[in-house]
Amino acid sequence: MANASGLVAPTLPSLRRRFSPTLGVYRSGFWSYDGVSRRMVCSSAAQGAEKLSPAESKARRLVSKGCKLVGCGSALPSIQISNDDLSEIVDTNDEWISVRTGIRNRRILSRKDSLTALATEAAQKALQMAEVEPNDVDLVLLCTSTPEDLFGSAPQIQKALGCSHNPLAYDITAACSGFLLGLVSAACYIRGGGFNNVLVIGADALSRYVDWTDRGSCILFGDAAGAVLLQSCDSEEDGLFAFDMHSDGEGQRHLKAGMKEDNTDQELATNGSLLELLPKGSSSYSCIEMNGKEVFRFAVRVVPHSIELALEKAGLGVSSIDWLILHQANQRIIDAVATRLEVPQERVISNLANYGNTSAASIPLALDEAVRSGKVQAGDTIATAGFGAGLTWGSAIIRWG
Ligand code: ACO
Repeated sequence: MANASGLVAPTLPSLRRRFSPTLGVYRSGFWSYDGVSRRMVCSSAAQGAEKLSPAESKARRLVSKGCKLVGCGSALPSIQISNDDLSEIVDTNDEWISVRTGIRNRRILSRKDSLTALATEAAQKALQMAEVEPNDVDLVLLCTSTPEDLFGSAPQIQKALGCSHNPLAYDITAACSGFLLGLVSAACYIRGGGFNNVLVIGADALSRYVDWTDRGSCILFGDAAGAVLLQSCDSEEDGLFAFDMHSDGEGQRHLKAGMKEDNTDQELATNGSLLELLPKGSSSYSCIEMNGKEVFRFAVRVVPHSIELALEKAGLGVSSIDWLILHQANQRIIDAVATRLEVPQERVISNLANYGNTSAASIPLALDEAVRSGKVQAGDTIATAGFGAGLTWGSAIIRWG
């Protein structure tokens, strides 16, 4: 059974017996007993299959692990499109776009470029920084809403990286919240599943689903990939202090890229034959449909609250935040959230002027640039938040390094 934070809790009855009466499960993923917060997790097959007696095995399941962020990387397509370039295809201009969004340029995958290759490049850089070999990776999570294979592209990345012992690799679909959800999922695998090295990749090519005639949305998006390597460590060194995550299907109408409706089959099904009723096997998705104003309002309403909740769970105040790294959607959203939280501008990381909204890639891309430029240092505390289609949103308080 999973608790509200997604941590597995199969050992709850035995823990209760051992630590009662003060045992509690917190949404942040902490177990608490005797008034002290501890992380209690169970090991899995990933830690080896040596034969243990039932008593030994039960004892071994109660291992305490933490996770930390030890590597990051990013990759960008080479084609750059400026606001002036866009003004040649839609009725817009550099001033409108930069004043309303803060965006000046974005990168776009060419028709022959592969998002999977871009994601692989970002992952390789994260592994290099972490000094982890591909064969030591236990899990690859690809956070994307634009996979090149409907069944998931993560196994192709696992193959391209050369993780030859076939670690698990799968996709997570949650648009601009994808990376955050992947990060928390990776932490749960490490804390509760005995995994040691988990690659979390955020990669999206929303340019493939943008309506390039819609000036209200085509100015916003760009393509990119970013990755982080999360590694197991002693519980005292744990680098995920707390998190908070939500979704609201009611809001989907404000931001979606649904399956294209095709009524022609029904109309043609005159003789009642099954073949005429069956889909033609050529389904596709429509372009992004967005009510920008509603998404804007949603973001400035939920994101500060979510970060406040995560900080509260972590037992930290806003003054503990060294860096605020939000999903890079619009500079006005970033500014509004920072103002609401009273985080000074100099602690806010923003790179959307160069890349626009890169969906699941935006947080790891911003983190990677900040780490490589020396802004974010080992030991720094970061408040991060993702938000977008679904609608989904969430935040996490993490430590780099
Ligand atoms: N160039 C020039 N004028 C424009 C453009 C443009 N590119 N786009 C819209 N306009 C016009 C509109 O037609 C409107 O004109 P009108 O007053 O004559 O009707 C005027 O500018 C104002 O338009 P609004 O839509 O009200 O502009 P707004 O200030 O809300 O900005 C924007 C629009 C930038 C889209 C903003 O609402 C926004 O950023 N929303 C959040 C979007 C977002 O973050 N989405 C992604 C979430 S992440 C994910 O999961 C994919």
